[in-house]
Amino acid sequence: VRKLIVGNWKMNPNSLVEARRLFNSVAKAAKRFQNVDVVLCPPFPYLAALRPAPSALLGAQDVFWEEKGAFTGEISPRMLKSSEVSYVIIGHSERRRHLGETDEMINKKVLAALKNGLRVILCVGETLSEKRRGQTKAVLRRQLQHDLASLRLAALKPSALIIAYEPIWAIGTGVPETPFSANEASRFIRKATGRIISPKVAKNIRILYGGSTNSRNIFGYLIMPELSGALVGGASLDAKDFTRMLEIANLL
Ligand code: PGA
Repeated sequence: VRKLIVGNWKMNPNSLVEARRLFNSVAKAAKRFQNVDVVLCPPFPYLAALRPAPSALLGAQDVFWEEKGAFTGEISPRMLKSSEVSYVIIGHSERRRHLGETDEMINKKVLAALKNGLRVILCVGETLSEKRRGQTKAVLRRQLQHDLASLRLAALKPSALIIAYEPIWAIGTGVPETPFSANEASRFIRKATGRIISPKVAKNIRILYGGSTNSRNIFGYLIMPELSGALVGGASLDAKDFTRMLEIANLL
């Protein structure tokens, strides 16, 4: 499987000028790396202004589930498609926490995005206290059961669904999960997803690790058998560090 490296810019940078600079510099570097898929997820206002280059595709950080209408502040899957966006992150823990996103909402978003031909990067992961109580697997199973409910498997290509294992305590903390444990969790995610959708589809979906990755530690994750890439936050804002990550992924 080709490796996939996704840069989640979150609510950064502060201006379109900086966004263009970062995007162009990464896209230019990515041209040299033909063996890795690169997706950049800038904030909404920049999406339409950044033309996807062949070497780096565009992703959004969220989407709404309705097609159109009176939903102030929301963005529909079709609007994203018409802005040449091909991927969308759904269910990021920051949205679950700060915006009150529930698994039910996330499920509606997943279904609407897939129906409209967007590739979904679904984020799941446990909190520190859940981990300490030994509940990681139960939490992942519960999230996946709800988030992937009523997915029509016949219609689903494995490439359309990507799952990012993001332990919440590892995000933006500088304390990543170990590659071995991330691999174990990903194996579990694949098994649980197989039970919910179909083992055949689950066998071929890409699972990413996310949480405090950078150019110094990414190698360890990328060589793990269950992992096909990374969802990168902080380090994706540093063109040099992010490019280095792409370079490493390209070698594998
Ligand atoms: P981080 O964020 O790489 O800054 O830890 C990862 C994420 O939130 O996707």
